[in-house]
Amino acid sequence: MEISYHGHSIVKVKTGGKEILIDPYITDNDLTDLKADEQKPDVILLTHGHNDHVGDTIAIAKSCDALVVAPNELAVWLGWQGLNTHGMNIGGAKKFDFGTVKYTKAFHSSSYTTEDGQIIYTGMPAGILFTAEGKTIYHAGDTSLFGDMELIGKRNDIDVAFLPIGDNFTMGPEDAAYAVELLNPKLAVPVHFNTFPPIQQDPAAFTELVKHHESKIMEPGESLSL
Ligand code: NI
Ligand code: MN
Repeated sequence: MEISYHGHSIVKVKTGGKEILIDPYITDNDLTDLKADEQKPDVILLTHGHNDHVGDTIAIAKSCDALVVAPNELAVWLGWQGLNTHGMNIGGAKKFDFGTVKYTKAFHSSSYTTEDGQIIYTGMPAGILFTAEGKTIYHAGDTSLFGDMELIGKRNDIDVAFLPIGDNFTMGPEDAAYAVELLNPKLAVPVHFNTFPPIQQDPAAFTELVKHHESKIMEPGESLSL
């Protein structure tokens, strides 16, 4: 399995000949190395409806007929936009041909703002546990620190955890470092920072606070093999 980070909360996974793209916020993201019109994933996984996570999902999925897996209300609305979707909800897992997806709790909000300024309700925000080839990735989505991360850590052998550290809208470095203690991953990677002025953050402030686990700052475009 190959996992790469692409700025903000974008993570790409390549496994079994399939490409899975998580939260593809590419246009308007000055930190990403990706180009939206070059993306041809088999699957797009979404954590919640905010525009900095749904990003280019509609254009990408229409261009390559990717399956979009999302929290249920978001999946329904994206289906109305003509996409091939699969809705899930917190606590539910499903084994797909590209791996197993389980939606987990995230403590945040979730809506999508259309170009004409309407706010669409998109259900509950979530985190995602993705398992393939015996490896598990946890993408926390946008969230505060919450105690049930301990339960997620006890119930899952997490290889890589992608955790937001930007503060203001999500956990900051201190809370994210505490989350690592609860989740007990083999590796923790900071995401969701420096994209906008309110989430300016030195990711080293996070890695220096992570004392008992491995952590790594991944540059946009950097990949790991598991
Ligand atoms: Ni959000
Ligand atoms: Mn966000």
